[in-house]
Amino acid sequence: MIDTNTASTGNDLGRFKTLEQFIIERQESLPHSTGAFSRLLRDISVAAKIVNHDMRRAGLVDIYGNTGEINVQGEVQKKMDALAHKEFVRALKRGGECCLIGSEEHAEAIPIRTNGDSSGKYIVLLDPLDGSSNIEVNVSVGTIFSIYRLPEGATEATLEAALQPGVDQIGAGYVVYGSSTMLVYTTGHGVNGFTLDPSIGEFLLSHPNIRTPKTGKMYAINEGNYNSFERGLKKYIKWVQRKDEATGRPYKTRYIGSFVSDFHRNLLKGGIYIYPATESSPEGKLRLMYEANPMAFIVEQAGGVATDGRTPILRKKPRELHQRTPLYIGSAEMVRVAEEFLQGKRDLD
Ligand code: AHG
Ligand code: MN
Ligand code: MN
Repeated sequence: MIDTNTASTGNDLGRFKTLEQFIIERQESLPHSTGAFSRLLRDISVAAKIVNHDMRRAGLVDIYGNTGEINVQGEVQKKMDALAHKEFVRALKRGGECCLIGSEEHAEAIPIRTNGDSSGKYIVLLDPLDGSSNIEVNVSVGTIFSIYRLPEGATEATLEAALQPGVDQIGAGYVVYGSSTMLVYTTGHGVNGFTLDPSIGEFLLSHPNIRTPKTGKMYAINEGNYNSFERGLKKYIKWVQRKDEATGRPYKTRYIGSFVSDFHRNLLKGGIYIYPATESSPEGKLRLMYEANPMAFIVEQAGGVATDGRTPILRKKPRELHQRTPLYIGSAEMVRVAEEFLQGKRDLD
């Protein structure tokens, strides 16, 4: 007979909680929960696994390269952008909990009707594949998602229903397809990270209750655009490069050019990510609804800050689905100092 106290299981996976267990436990702690939101999260995680599967075979199957289309953002659409979009839309349609999808890769909001009705009560806005220009060179890319409730009293899922400020999000997360695949999300009760174990096909709770450091030593910005930065930002860049033992400067530049990856590193290690207004992108490059809002929700839940340099991202009232915004996001102290330079409250000594 096997002595269960001493028998080795051959692995230690059983000590991790799965994403599904975690979601169900959270759901049970909410008094009137119907399980619909939990099912929505499950649908998103299933799509993430499918996209992960495709991604791991990139280079072997024909998913590198461009579709030949220019997307609504005016950017070259990669085959993998289109594929990731398709997989998420398909999973959300099949799941039935989502009534409207807004995607960076689709010009209009996509209403979802089951039997002629919008049955689901959640709106999902997403960047199906972030950092896709990096995909052919094997750099980490990701998916970013943002979840809203269909507003009270709204009978139909219209575009207006999707134009809610970030502060109204009820969930947000991202998946980073990196050296391992991770799903990180929040529902407004802290941030938790799950690593995909490909052998059992489950996301396992590897990073419970993530808190981002108050300050860090890394800054991420495309400094090639330096000449078109506003004065305050130019000064801030000079400041981060100056030697100062007390604050650990000069900071290190770390810019992957894949927002989800730069953000993930900063979240865990401390740092600031900036995509400011530039000459070619006067409103900034990143999208308010697909990139800035969900990451702002996550970073705030982890103790960090996100602003456009003047206004907190989550307070911005959206005008349109594909709206862009300047973005300063990361460790609280670092974002505050950057803001002080931008607003002329601080100068180089
Ligand atoms: P996407 O691939 O979804 O279009 O987003 C690309 C974004 C972001 O991931 C990255 O940080 C930024 O573009 C890089 O822009 P630059 O090449 O202008 O620095
Ligand atoms: Mn993106
Ligand atoms: Mn994208």
